[in-house]
Amino acid sequence: MNKNVLVVSSSLRSHSNSERLADEFVRGVQESGNYAEHISLRDKTIHFCKGCLTCQESQRCVIHDDADMIVQKMRTADVIVFATPIYYYEMSGQMKTLLDRANPLFFSNYSFRDIYLLAAAAEEDIHAIDGAIAGLRGWISCFPKAHLAGTILGNGVDAAGTIEGHSALQEAYEMGKAI
Ligand SMILES: Cc1cc2nc3c(=O)[nH]c(=O)nc-3n(C[C@H](O)[C@H](O)[C@H](O)COP(=O)(O)O)c2cc1C
Repeated sequence: MNKNVLVVSSSLRSHSNSERLADEFVRGVQESGNYAEHISLRDKTIHFCKGCLTCQESQRCVIHDDADMIVQKMRTADVIVFATPIYYYEMSGQMKTLLDRANPLFFSNYSFRDIYLLAAAAEEDIHAIDGAIAGLRGWISCFPKAHLAGTILGNGVDAAGTIEGHSALQEAYEMGKAI
């Protein structure tokens, strides 16, 4: 059966390095005959979670912005892929805000099982992604049917577009192809 893959890129800048990883992942998914939708948060309006917990009853957020639409797509995806720049050894604030806004899923019959993390960082150190992995693992731990299936770091890339030629692009393509 074909898989439904949702890829969410959270960098807000043009020629984003982490979004290039997402593009390659999508290329691999499509190559393998599965379906991928790639959403960028760049042009989206996503407000902070208010913590009202109305979603506990309604399974919908009281804030009707773009997160509401993205979270519904997250619920029905088989695979979710997050792409993020590393900001202060963590995921971007945009990605964290989306994860918080995905709280309605906690009470839902969500479909996703495999979660992937793609990240770009200026540092060469491969551990630059560790804080983002830890943060995402915390979110995943609240969804017992899901698990972290893979991570890729494009390390040593700072300026926009400098990830071209990096081996992480090929890794992302292969990972997408193998889902
Ligand atoms: C606010 C901010 C914080 C950052 N913090 C880190 C960091 O902790 N470690 C690191 O290696 N790079 C850090 N960077 C660099 C970015 O991770 C790097 O430029 C990356 O390629 C951005 O990915 P993007 O092109 O997808 O936005 C930071 C950049 C910004 C703007």
